[in-house]
Order: sequence, then structure tokens, then C-alpha cells
Amino acid sequence: MSSSIKTTLFTDVSVAAEMLRSGRLVAFPTETVYGLGADATNSDSVARIFESKGRPRFDPLIVHVHDASAAADLVTEFPETAQKLAEAFWPGPLTLVLPKKDHVSDLVTAGLAGVGIRVPGNDTARELIKLADRPVAAPSANPFSGISPTCAQHVMDGLGGRIDGILDGGPCRIGVESTVVSLLDNKPTLFRPGGLPVETIEEVIGPLHRLPVQQPADTAAQPAPGMLSRHYAPDTGLRIISADTTAVPVPGKRCGLLTWGPSHESGEWQQIERICAGDDLRQCAANFFAALRSLDAQNLDVIIARSFPETGLGLALNDRLQRAAHT
Ligand code: TXA
Ligand code: MG
Repeated sequence: MSSSIKTTLFTDVSVAAEMLRSGRLVAFPTETVYGLGADATNSDSVARIFESKGRPRFDPLIVHVHDASAAADLVTEFPETAQKLAEAFWPGPLTLVLPKKDHVSDLVTAGLAGVGIRVPGNDTARELIKLADRPVAAPSANPFSGISPTCAQHVMDGLGGRIDGILDGGPCRIGVESTVVSLLDNKPTLFRPGGLPVETIEEVIGPLHRLPVQQPADTAAQPAPGMLSRHYAPDTGLRIISADTTAVPVPGKRCGLLTWGPSHESGEWQQIERICAGDDLRQCAANFFAALRSLDAQNLDVIIARSFPETGLGLALNDRLQRAAHT
């Protein structure tokens, strides 16, 4: 975007609600990452989300509501599986894709038959939605394909000058985006691993189907068009090593390490980000994106990242690493 606007940073929820009501773009905290909010019923505002992020129009937006009954107003069907999941996990880091009603704008859903909905597990976010008195469309508040923001300053760094305001609600508790599950047909399907572990969902509704690997079609013609191969990516190249390998820097290169647990590395590193001293994947998730940003700011030749166990939040973290590493 060429022209720059003034982005205000504040902590008053009612100011943010008034801004949303008058069609402005306001970033707000959720328990996962900061969202870039707009009135989901105002097409001009929704269009500005895509412009300010540089996001392709084929990538649909999640609609945030303050409770499950507000979610039911947006869909033609709220099946039993959705009810079970909503009861168990809302408010929380779970997005459900359900058949949309006509009044939900095609701009929000990128022309798809389903709308992604969630009730965020953050009191400030729900209060904001309630005060705004309308559904709030919000992607993560970062420029397209960049690293998701887990505090207000991250949002300012990425979108300052392009959005109207940022509601500062402190750091995000979970640190990775919501888990996206489609209930469009009788097979509940995982569209994106995220802040709610798959195993926890499966305890409630049984096995989730997985999408076939989406390659190489990074386009609109797929059920979960937002799952692009390159995403959540630092500017610096990133290489993944397996969890049990000793990390060694590339000779002659400025290397940074993203790691967890006790030392598993040797050699000279420009910077080491140990996001958790033990193996607590929740702590890893909470610190993950901030560590990636910090490494990306060091002007390194390469970031080497240790992968995570493929269980619990490790699934989402490995997914983000793979997309960050994709060139
Ligand atoms: O935790 C989160 O989900 C955060 C906070 C702000 O709520 N939001 C977020 O939004 O991560 P975004 O736009 O960065 O990622 C949403 C993902 C994308 O991969 C998108 O394609 C998918 O959800 N999605 C949204 N609506 C969809 C729909 N109707 N059908 C299929 N996929 C959908
Ligand atoms: Mg995003």
C-alpha cells in the first residue's frame, strides 16, 4: 500500500469496538495470536483486510463471535458434532468450518460454501466482539505469509501505517493459531493443526480425517486454500533438523539456532533461542513466533531449527516450521 495512515496503540476495549463499528481495522489480542479485525458485515472493511496484509483474495477469513449461539446464526446447519466440539472447546483455539448462510459475505469466505468460525478464549477479545455487536472477521495480524504476531509490538512492526488501531492486551497465552476443523460433510477433517491438540479433539469426536498433501497447487482450487506451502516465514532461510540430532552451525555462515530442551548443540552460534528448558510443548508454542522473529532480526545467513515431537502442540509447531522452511 502506498499511503501510510496513523496506527494508534491503546488498551481501551470500547475504543476498539467503536472503531470496528465505524468500519476501521483494529488488531486485537486472542489467546492464540493477534488478529486483524474488521466488521464481517461491512464489505469495504473486509476488503481492506486483504489490502493491508497483501493477502490474496482466495484465502478465506475466520469469523470471530462471542458465543456458540452467535456462531449458529451464521450457518445453515450446526450439526451434533459441532455442538459437541463447541461445548467442549469454545471459547478456545478451535475454528469450525460450517455451511454458511447467504448473508455471510463471499469476500469473507473467498467464495467457498463454508465459513470458518471461532469463539476466542480471551476475555478482551470476547468483550470486544460483544461491544462491537457484530461478527468480527480476523486473520492473523501480520503481512501475508509472514510470522504471526504474539504481542502488540509485533503487530505494529508489521502493519503499523496500514491499519487504524491496535488494542494492546499483552502477550498471547497459547502462541500458535487455532486448529481448523471442517464439518462440511460427515467426515470431520483437519484443515490446520493448531493450538488445540488433535488428540484432544479426537477424544471427543473420534478420528479426524486429514487432507491429502496440497502440492504443488498453491491456489484457490483446494478445500483449505490458506494452507500454502510457504507461510509463517522469516526472511532468513530456515533449515529443519530432527529432534535427536546435535545441531552444528554451517561453517563460515552466520547461524542462529531455534531449539528447546537441554543443550543439543555444539560450535559457534550467532544467536541461540532456547524456547523451553525442558520439553513442555505449551511453553515452546508460547515462545515460538517471538523467537523466530528475534532470530530473523539478526541478519543471519541461516536459521537452524530443531523439530518437535509429533504429538500435542508439536504437530502445529512442526507444521509452522515446515512452512517457514519452504522456499
Ligand atoms: O488463531 C487463529 O486462528 C487466528 C486468530 C486471530 O483467530 N487467526 C488466523 O487466521 O490464524 P488466518 O487467516 O491467519 O488463518 C486462518 C486459516 C487459513 O488457513 C484459512 O484459509 C482457513 O483458516 N480458513 C478460514 N476460513 C475458511 C473456510 N471458510 N474454509 C476453509 N479454510 C478456512
Ligand atoms: Mg495467518
